[in-house]
Formats: sequence, C-alpha cells, structure tokens
Amino acid sequence: MAQVITVLGGSGFVGRHVVQRLAKTGAQVRLGVRNIELAKRLKPLGDVGQIVPMTVDIARGTGLAAAMAGADVVINLVGILAPGGSNKSFQAVQAEGAQRAAEAAKAAGVPRFIQMSALGADADSESEYAQTKAAGEAAVLALYPDAAIFRPSIIFGPDDGFFNKFAAMARTAPALPLIGGGATRFQPIFVGDVADAIVKAVTDPSVRGIYEIGGPKAYSFKELMQFTLTASHLSALLLPVPFPVAAFIGLFVGMLPGAPITLDQVKLLKVDNLPSGKFPGLKELGIAGATVEAIMPAYLARFQPGGRFGSLHGA
Ligand SMILES: NC(=O)c1ccc[n+]([C@@H]2O[C@H](COP(=O)([O-])OP(=O)(O)OC[C@H]3O[C@@H](n4cnc5c(N)ncnc54)[C@H](OP(=O)(O)O)[C@@H]3O)[C@@H](O)[C@H]2O)c1
Repeated sequence: MAQVITVLGGSGFVGRHVVQRLAKTGAQVRLGVRNIELAKRLKPLGDVGQIVPMTVDIARGTGLAAAMAGADVVINLVGILAPGGSNKSFQAVQAEGAQRAAEAAKAAGVPRFIQMSALGADADSESEYAQTKAAGEAAVLALYPDAAIFRPSIIFGPDDGFFNKFAAMARTAPALPLIGGGATRFQPIFVGDVADAIVKAVTDPSVRGIYEIGGPKAYSFKELMQFTLTASHLSALLLPVPFPVAAFIGLFVGMLPGAPITLDQVKLLKVDNLPSGKFPGLKELGIAGATVEAIMPAYLARFQPGGRFGSLHGA
C-alpha cells in the first residue's frame, strides 16, 4: 500500500520541491498548512487525489490530529524568518510548534519524523531564530530519538527568497548593503539537493540524527552579492554597513511586515553559516550537490535590463 506522508509547511519554497519528489514515489501526500488555497496549487504535481491539502496551524495546534491520523512519516518544514504579520513568535512556531507536531505524531502512532532545522541552530545563540530552531530539534529528538534532522545553509533555487530578493533590490536601489562588511560566510545549497536529502530520509531509516547540509563551496556574503549582480547583469554599489548601524536599522525597520532586515537577522549574520564538520552532511547522504554557479545565473537572467531575453535584443 502507498505510504501516507504528512508534510507540514509543504506549500513553501522547500515544500514544493519535496512534494514533487514524494508524488513521484507514489506516496499519498498530505500538505499541512494554514493557507489551504495556496496549497491547492500543488495538486497537479500528483495524480487525482494524491496530494491532499489540510488546514493545520502548528503555532496554535489546530488541525494536527487529523493530519497525523494514519500517516507513516511526518516531515516538519515549518519555519519563519521573522515574527509578525500572519506569523506568530519564533517560540510559538519553531520551538513549541515543532513540539506540538511531534506530540501529535506520537499520539497518532506515526513511526517516523523528519525535522527541518537550520545551520547555526544553537540554544546559546544571540538570535532567537537559532535558539528556537535548537529547541525545536530537542523537542523532536525527545519524542523521536531516531528522527532525521536537517540543518541547511541558505537554500537557493529558481523561486528562492535570497538571490531573487537581492536581484530585485538591485534593479531599483542604487546600492546593496554589506552587513558587517559582507565577510560572513555561507555554503548555499540547491533546493533540489535539500529535497533529495529529505526524500532519502523518508526511504532510508539509517538516516537519523543531525545532518548539516551545505553546497560544495563556501562564499562570503560580499561574494554572493557580487555574483548576484553579475548573474542579473545589474550594477549597484556594494555598501558596507557596520553591525551596530545594521542592528539599529533592523530594530525599527524589522517591525514592518516583509521588512528587508530584522535585528534578529543581523544577529544571525555575525556568525558564519557553515557546516561545523561535527555532523554528517550531503556527502554522507550520497548527494554531490550543485554549485551556485551552475544554477543561479539561469534564473536570475530575468532581472537583466529588458528581461530574460533583453541581451538578445541589445537592451
Ligand atoms: N529557505 C532557506 O534558505 C532556509 C535556510 C535554512 C533553513 N530553512 C528552513 O527550511 C524550512 C522551509 O523553509 P522555506 O524556505 O520553504 O519556508 P517558506 O517558503 O516560508 O514556507 C513555509 C511553509 O510553512 C507554512 N507555515 C508557516 N507557518 C505555519 C504554521 N504556523 N502552521 C502550519 N504551517 C505553517 C507555510 O504555509 P502557510 O503560510 O499557508 O501556513 C509554508 O507552507 C523552514 O523550517 C526554514 O526555517 C530554510
């Protein structure tokens, strides 16, 4: 019989790629999200009735029991970059939400739990994002000692919220900010590789414990901004913004919905976002990992003056 897999946060950037792969395995996929209308757009990724959106809010604990009943695997992809708007606090979503999800899965007798965390998850971090990611991991591991936990670096892909955001900014703003001088290092990972890692954990129970997953190369934030400009054929000044100035801006701007930077993100940027080497990674999962250079220019080309085919028309 087909596996039943509940993907909490399945309509998001990572979720869309995970769901596409799970549908190909023939699994019955439930999407547990708050906005069921958005999730319905994913139904064509599977056969009729194969992908079933369900209303779940892990911050409130609503809809979890129904989403878990009879499931073989639960994948929790829910995470937020900033509280506010329709998002509740980091604590409610990433710490207590993960705990509620694991408790509901356990109560329903679900045998396998996969949790999405983030590189830098650390109970002692200055950042509440990182603290609550660590608390979410601990809550899941307390109930599911064999859970697979993934800590990715920045995730990139055609519909990412990182390179697309900075390319869009460069199209209208004269400068891109280099917070803390842009020295923070990252190991960006392709969304397809993240989805492959998660699907491997679904099919292979020996994938257990924490995996720190980054792509094949590390780059400074400044290098990533330079690369964004080159790939999108745009020019903008790269403006160093010292950490205290960025923190001040983040404190005020961060209160606005969709803010470009928050104080918590400035705190995160003070620490390199690289695998520590203490945990297995992509290599141990048998995934080679695509580079930024191989993937990103194709999807940032739409930002060039005149659009994707602008250069063909001499724009
Ligand atoms: N993207 C990255 O670069 C990156 C890097 C490191 C770690 N991660 C982690 O990877 C995971 C997936 O990230 P993503 O980029 O795919 O995020 P995303 O695009 O923002 O998607 C988040 C998903 O969670 C759902 N959601 C949000 N709040 C919810 C709640 N209270 N209850 C139920 N569902 C909720 C959203 O749908 P609704 O709004 O309809 O509920 C959406 O389906 C997150 O845990 C994130 O922290 C991402």
